[in-house]
Amino acid sequence: MTSDGTGAAEAALPQEVAFAQEVPRGEPILQVRDLVKHFPLTQGIVIRKQIGAVKAVDGVSFDLMQGETLGIVGESGCGKSTLAKVLMNLEPATSGSVRFKGEEISGLSGGALKAVRRNIQMVFQDPYTSLNPRMTVGDIIGEPYEIHPEVAPKGERRKAVQDLLDVVGLNPEYINRYPHQFSGGQRQRIGIARGLALKPEVIICDEPVSALDVSVQAQVINLLEQLQKEFNLSYMFIAHDLSIVRHISDRVGVMYLGRMVEIGSDEEIYDHATHPYTQALLSAVPVPDPAAREAKDRIVLTGDVPSPAKPPSGCRFRTRCWLAQEKCSHDDPALAVRSWLEGKAAHESACHFAAEREADRT
Ligand SMILES: Nc1ncnc2c1ncn2[C@@H]1O[C@H](COP(=O)(O)OP(=O)(O)O)[C@@H](O)[C@H]1O
Ligand code: SF4
Ligand SMILES: [Mg+2]
Repeated sequence: MTSDGTGAAEAALPQEVAFAQEVPRGEPILQVRDLVKHFPLTQGIVIRKQIGAVKAVDGVSFDLMQGETLGIVGESGCGKSTLAKVLMNLEPATSGSVRFKGEEISGLSGGALKAVRRNIQMVFQDPYTSLNPRMTVGDIIGEPYEIHPEVAPKGERRKAVQDLLDVVGLNPEYINRYPHQFSGGQRQRIGIARGLALKPEVIICDEPVSALDVSVQAQVINLLEQLQKEFNLSYMFIAHDLSIVRHISDRVGVMYLGRMVEIGSDEEIYDHATHPYTQALLSAVPVPDPAAREAKDRIVLTGDVPSPAKPPSGCRFRTRCWLAQEKCSHDDPALAVRSWLEGKAAHESACHFAAEREADRT
């Protein structure tokens, strides 16, 4: 990772690699370096033997800046949820480093972990299954106070929960209702209220609108944007397609098979993508104007996503890449800025032949 312009990686990078000039606003609130999460594959019932590993997250580095929204995009199975869970310390990392405001948080346990958890909260994809159907909305939203009573002492909890309901646009009088009495969009508002209960600084939203009707998605996204301003939140916003994160993200990172393959400002990614995978994802984004749709040169990705237990050698995208060359099969491209790129194209991309696509430039 080179976005902070420091680190040992600098010396090891080839000459074709330069550094990004554009520094995102704010200070980094989360710094993720070489993060790895492998799930062991085992065989045998009596004597369990490890025969391999699912490389769900396999060397991911990026910064989340204070007050920004970083969109994380990639096809299903590329490791987005695993990345979120490792950042939340819900799953232990296999290796790598996660710093919150400069302090190492991966591998923490006990009281130290509890203190950090307060600051990093998550909003989950499915508002139908992530809320306990037997608990009232008041108990669901107020549950985090059981672990952190210092945020809202017992006598103040009801009021705190009612304030949260109000903040997310729900009637505070609904406090004694159950999740099934709400619509999908309202349930996601409950999930967001719960995420806000401990007054976190970072919220990781894992596909928060994917399970909702299109008509409701915009309302929930608007609410998240409004809350970000009100509470100075930093968001990591995970989605499986680029169109959803377009309006909410300041920067976007694209993942493929456990790796970050391209990262940059929204303009750099949407208008000046240099990685073939991002270009393929962009060409699949619906274009509203029929004339523009005609003119757009579509890329149809062929071949299945390889198994994360056996990723291809060299560049992981090479089995589906129309630009692949011999070098791609043995040389794993670093996520970095290539020296031949200029202007908005000069952002981090993990491709030996990173270049803007002609069709995107018109
Ligand atoms: N607990 C687990 N044990 C084994 N493999 C897992 C586990 N969780 C996720 N995986 C695998 O890791 C890969 C990434 O999954 P996930 O992070 O859920 O992807 P995404 O959120 O991008 O769809 C997938 O191949 C998935 O099957
Ligand atoms: S490094 Fe090679 S295979 Fe990988 S994206 Fe670039 S051109 Fe395609
Ligand atoms: Mg997921």
